[in-house]
Amino acid sequence: MDDRIISKELISGDTLENTLRPQYIKDYIGQNEVKENIKIFIDAAKMRNESLDHVLLYGPPGLGKTTLAHIIANELGTNIKTTTGPSIEKSGDLAAILSGLEPGDVLFIDEIHRIPKFIEEILYSAMEDFELDIVVGTEGNTRNIKIDLPPFTLVGATTKAGDLSSPLRDRFGIVSKLNYYSESELKQIIERTSRVLNMEITPDAAEELAKRSRKTPRIANRLFKRVRDFASVIGDGIIDKDITNSALKRLKVDKYGLDQIDLEYLVSLITKFNGGPVGVETIAASIGEEVSTIEDVVEPYLLQEGFIKRTPRGRMTTEKAKEHLKETHLIFDNNS
Ligand SMILES: Nc1ncnc2c1ncn2[C@@H]1O[C@H](COP(=O)(O)OP(=O)(O)OP(=O)(O)O)[C@@H](O)[C@H]1O
Ligand SMILES: [Mg+2]
Repeated sequence: MDDRIISKELISGDTLENTLRPQYIKDYIGQNEVKENIKIFIDAAKMRNESLDHVLLYGPPGLGKTTLAHIIANELGTNIKTTTGPSIEKSGDLAAILSGLEPGDVLFIDEIHRIPKFIEEILYSAMEDFELDIVVGTEGNTRNIKIDLPPFTLVGATTKAGDLSSPLRDRFGIVSKLNYYSESELKQIIERTSRVLNMEITPDAAEELAKRSRKTPRIANRLFKRVRDFASVIGDGIIDKDITNSALKRLKVDKYGLDQIDLEYLVSLITKFNGGPVGVETIAASIGEEVSTIEDVVEPYLLQEGFIKRTPRGRMTTEKAKEHLKETHLIFDNNS
């Protein structure tokens, strides 16, 4: 139990996510297979005094990709430079980042599926031969230059592995998929958060939060934070099950952890499209959400929990969804 204890007053908003990030593999809860493999590859690279092979981490938002990227650098004992796919607009941007690397460093590219195509091509030789091959100069007066790079480890993260081109994907020696967490793992994450934030939570309250966190650590922490507010202001400073239930009710998080967008999605699919099949664009338009939010955030969990099915002709709801919505009085019998 060596988590840093930090006074509550120091933590707010965005910094909270960083504060709660475990720093080493031993504090990273769950994802056992991924963790064990990565640990072995890190140890092997260290033994041979080589840089770690490039790592691709993929999976739904909030499951710990960014956290793991930082952990990899910490375990290797190297620096980490971070950037995102869409922010690398020119070859010069990439050159600037790459030429600043020290041997063995980790370069973390978040949202790597959004890297521009021509940048991707420059990345190939950087990844494979640690060589940067770029064109410099202006129109009519250009030349190619080659810059030797130190050996480095590219860690790429994406919620959409399918959007990565295969030449790019093939250049990652280690490809790891992060999965949704079990309730008991989430409970451990919530208990860790409680220790780090120095705010007590009862075991039954932690279990309840774990059940309603969409199997996602980021959501567990976010809900923890909100429930903590209720406990501090209305309760007696300890998060118990009653406070948790009433806070979650106010936050409109239901017993499966579905929130308002999830429910709107299901209600729309059932009442407007007769349960499907229907295309994702149509559903997105009907509830006024971005297609990418629906595809990246809403659907993976609904699929995983068996509320919807994906068919070649579009999305369909399941009996489970209908039962749940009837039970919560969001749809009535004549709609089903
Ligand atoms: N295995 C874990 N153990 C403990 N806490 C975790 C774990 N994974 C994630 N977290 C917590 O969840 C938060 C979100 O994780 P992170 O930012 O790494 O997700 P992500 O996969 O990068 O999400 P995105 O796709 O949106 O970038 C972190 O701040 C961290 O506190
Ligand atoms: Mg991230």
